[in-house]
Amino acid sequence: MRILVTGGAGFIGSNFVHRTLSTRPDTQVVVLDAMTYAANPENLAGLDPQRCRLVEGDVCDVELVDELMAEADLVVHFAAESHNDNSLHNPLAFTRSNVEGTVVLINAATRHDVRFHHISTDEVFGDLALDDPARFTPDTPYNPSSPYSASKAASDHFVRAFVRSHGLRATISNCSNNYGPRQHPEKFIPRQILNLLAGEEPRVYGTGENVRDWIHVDDHNDAVWTIIEKGEIGQTYLIGADGEHDNLAVVAELNRVFGREPGAFLHVTDRPGHDRRYAIDASSTLALGWEPRHRDFRAGLRETVEWYRGNPGWWERAREATESAYRRREVQLPK
Ligand code: NAD
Ligand code: TYD
Repeated sequence: MRILVTGGAGFIGSNFVHRTLSTRPDTQVVVLDAMTYAANPENLAGLDPQRCRLVEGDVCDVELVDELMAEADLVVHFAAESHNDNSLHNPLAFTRSNVEGTVVLINAATRHDVRFHHISTDEVFGDLALDDPARFTPDTPYNPSSPYSASKAASDHFVRAFVRSHGLRATISNCSNNYGPRQHPEKFIPRQILNLLAGEEPRVYGTGENVRDWIHVDDHNDAVWTIIEKGEIGQTYLIGADGEHDNLAVVAELNRVFGREPGAFLHVTDRPGHDRRYAIDASSTLALGWEPRHRDFRAGLRETVEWYRGNPGWWERAREATESAYRRREVQLPK
């Protein structure tokens, strides 16, 4: 099977490529990645060149996408601008890569009749109140709150429209927050781990009561394969692993891993429009036979800390650039 993986040099995409090549001997992968600030060439280092090729290019490049599509049996579309904070400052990069890029890809997938899996996020549903017992289901109305989630919502709508109007053979998955190795230092968990490794304080936005539904990246990618193999064309599947924790609890646990007081951190400027809580009802994907394996979030966090501790060459430059941008914007708040 020849698989075109867009965004395969980023966090989730590169974990998908590694997992796919190691568990599915009948696969060959072409990664199409624009190698933005979020990508790292190290993410694909050491892979068999007979089975994995990196094409540095943009998903908005119609000719290149057409050429690669002609040689693919399956597309797994991860490529996106993925950070909420950046979307507040540079929204047009998000409409371009996330909306236009998706439309270029599904246009070509339709033309070549290639099976397409679209990677989306639970953030398209907006947020839930902290005391709301509800969780997101595939029937939850879309209500995105940030330019990032709005662009992902738009891309989902385009995929559905192409299924209905053009017979595109596509499935969509909306997953909750991922953690694990090779996540960019701009994201919450790596940022706090790297602060702690540098002997600095974790930095929590606003009150820190915001809840995210954490899932290990390998569980996400296993669910994606289950949907590709067993999902129904045109359907949307929600992926989550019952991993709800507020940001204060995550920071407390990381502090414990570093032998520090759980409550030792800085409150900094809140994110405008900061979503309160995400929570996934994953019944749609569980019904296909998938199950998360990484059920112990504390153990997963400890392993993730060890990965960052063992790979400073991977993150040092990215951290420096990210952290200096953050610190220009952030103001410390009183506790
Ligand atoms: P990431 O930022 O680590 O990686 C994105 C990759 O896409 C990068 O390698 C980047 O270079 C590439 N890219 C960006 N624009 C491109 C373009 N125009 N053409 C080609 N390549 C381009 O992001 P991630 O966290 O791995 O997220 C991957 C996907 O999963 C995204 O679609 C995101 O919306 C979705 N998702 C992420 C999470 C999460 O917790 N990180 C949760 C649910 C869904
Ligand atoms: P993030 O990793 O940006 O993911 P998302 O916005 O997609 O959920 O942030 C996760 C949570 O952590 C979110 O509530 C914002 C918060 N956060 C902090 O408190 N401090 C930080 O330094 C960052 C980057 C995020």
